[in-house]
Amino acid sequence: MQPIKNKQAVLDALHQKYTNCQACPLATMGRTQVVFGVGDPNAQLMFIGEAPGFNEDQKGEPFIGRAGQLLTKIIEAMGLSRQTVYISNVVKCRPPNNRTPTTLERETCKNLLLVAQIAIIRPKIICTLGSPSTKALLGDDVQISLVRGKFFEYQEIPVMPTFHPAYLLRNPIEKRTVWEDMKKIMEKLKELE
Ligand code: URA
Repeated sequence: MQPIKNKQAVLDALHQKYTNCQACPLATMGRTQVVFGVGDPNAQLMFIGEAPGFNEDQKGEPFIGRAGQLLTKIIEAMGLSRQTVYISNVVKCRPPNNRTPTTLERETCKNLLLVAQIAIIRPKIICTLGSPSTKALLGDDVQISLVRGKFFEYQEIPVMPTFHPAYLLRNPIEKRTVWEDMKKIMEKLKELE
């Protein structure tokens, strides 16, 4: 497939098409808005989380609460910034009480939005954060604790699963594990230059 020239415009059109998405039950469960994604449409690295929380739902931007601030720190420690990577979630609407999205919600949203976002951006590497986004790209049977730290592939794009920053807030000892995973991403990005 030919790379897309005006990726931002194509992403904007996709966002526009789904601003009032009614495709899954989350549409009527109190979401404020569809939280689409932020960052560079030409990013080499794309992070995919689970679903918006309270702050993200209010502001319309992924990863801006406590877990998001930790993700921002990790990105900056890699020598990158929120503006030079792309950040999104597998599920774009906030689940009530921040519960884990159901498989139906996850797969519906993935098939309508995430698959298209990935096809437009075509990052060099995808980093999935936590279980739902990892399962969405690698299959329902994977276990994050077993697959993290290794490269897999989705649509011929290397995928590195790692722990979710919210998990790191509860288990700070695992920050060093995630840092090992980020070092592998940095090495591979260099290799792919
Ligand atoms: N957790 C996520 O998975 N995504 C967000 O946007 C915020 C918190």
